[in-house]
Amino acid sequence: MDDTRPDQPHAAPDYRLGVGGVMLREAWYYAAPASALARGKAVHRTLLGEPVLLGRDAGGNVFALRDTCPHRGTLLSKGKFDGREVECPYHGWRFRTDGQCTAIPSQTAAQRPQPGDIRAEVFPVREHQGNVWIYMGTQRGALPPVPEVPAIGNKRQLYVSMVFDCNIDLAVIGLMDPAHGAFVHSSSLWRNEASIHEKHKAFSPLPESEGLGWRMDRHTASRNSRAYALFLGGAPETEISYRLPSVRIEHARTPRYNYCGLTACTPITADRTEVHHVMYWDVPGAAIMRAIMRPIAMRFLDQDRRAVMSMVEGLAFDPKTVLVQDADTQTRWYFRLKREFLAAQAEGRAPKNPITPVTLSWRS
Ligand code: FES
Ligand SMILES: [Fe+2]
Repeated sequence: MDDTRPDQPHAAPDYRLGVGGVMLREAWYYAAPASALARGKAVHRTLLGEPVLLGRDAGGNVFALRDTCPHRGTLLSKGKFDGREVECPYHGWRFRTDGQCTAIPSQTAAQRPQPGDIRAEVFPVREHQGNVWIYMGTQRGALPPVPEVPAIGNKRQLYVSMVFDCNIDLAVIGLMDPAHGAFVHSSSLWRNEASIHEKHKAFSPLPESEGLGWRMDRHTASRNSRAYALFLGGAPETEISYRLPSVRIEHARTPRYNYCGLTACTPITADRTEVHHVMYWDVPGAAIMRAIMRPIAMRFLDQDRRAVMSMVEGLAFDPKTVLVQDADTQTRWYFRLKREFLAAQAEGRAPKNPITPVTLSWRS
């Protein structure tokens, strides 16, 4: 399908075809909020269908090992972690957090293998701005930087997450969709059908250093974002960026205050996706704001989850569907970038961002 054409109102959508549901490799994914990993503890996570033992050692460093013992595949997370080494519960093989095996209790000195011959697989991890990112892929050495929210002189204020029973694409396009707010999140504080009006937003490709994605250029937030105005004490200027595989960063600022939201989707398996939402702000009264914001954030996420699940139920009937211009352009871009990412990988070249600066118009 020619995907470089301008968006046509009646062009056949292809979001269930081709790259639909593919979980991109060689990329950073949101693994957990840093606060979820206590010192000296390790937990099991399934990420992109792979078993991961995610932990923090006695020295405070986060680590991730493949959570299957190189001996017979037993989950290492069912064993013991003493803050330095993990011991498999089956035959007591021990592993350092860098994957090196240090003990194979059953072996005599003359037998092979010896611990020095065995390594458990390690995943690169980074702790940054209160978040733990994991690199899902085989590349080692110089890795791209992890996603970063603008520094607004504060630490993370609120983290919420929710599991969507769908593939990563349906979660991503469900969350990025610009035209559902008045219907899915209808409220007098936020927006409703009566508040719908025409918008024109300028978009540009992300600089290469920030990955494959696009940015909604800084603009004054729309007049139906009253919740923002209440929170930040005035009409904010907002900038939103989106990068593969699944990270959306929003920065709203007024002359006095800032708000940053980071939304990241991480596949658990091909058809389950965890949506992580992290909020930062420098408005005073963090504890009270957190208490107020948590239920609101959970309610928003759950509204999105229900909307997406209704779409999943409908798509199970394999309906004919239609994408519109321009409200569905970001959905198209997402798949276009994903295809480019995969093509570049297959051809062993750097991906090229096909997006060019453009102003999109829609009513919401
Ligand atoms: S399965 Fe892990 S030590 Fe045997
Ligand atoms: Fe939403």
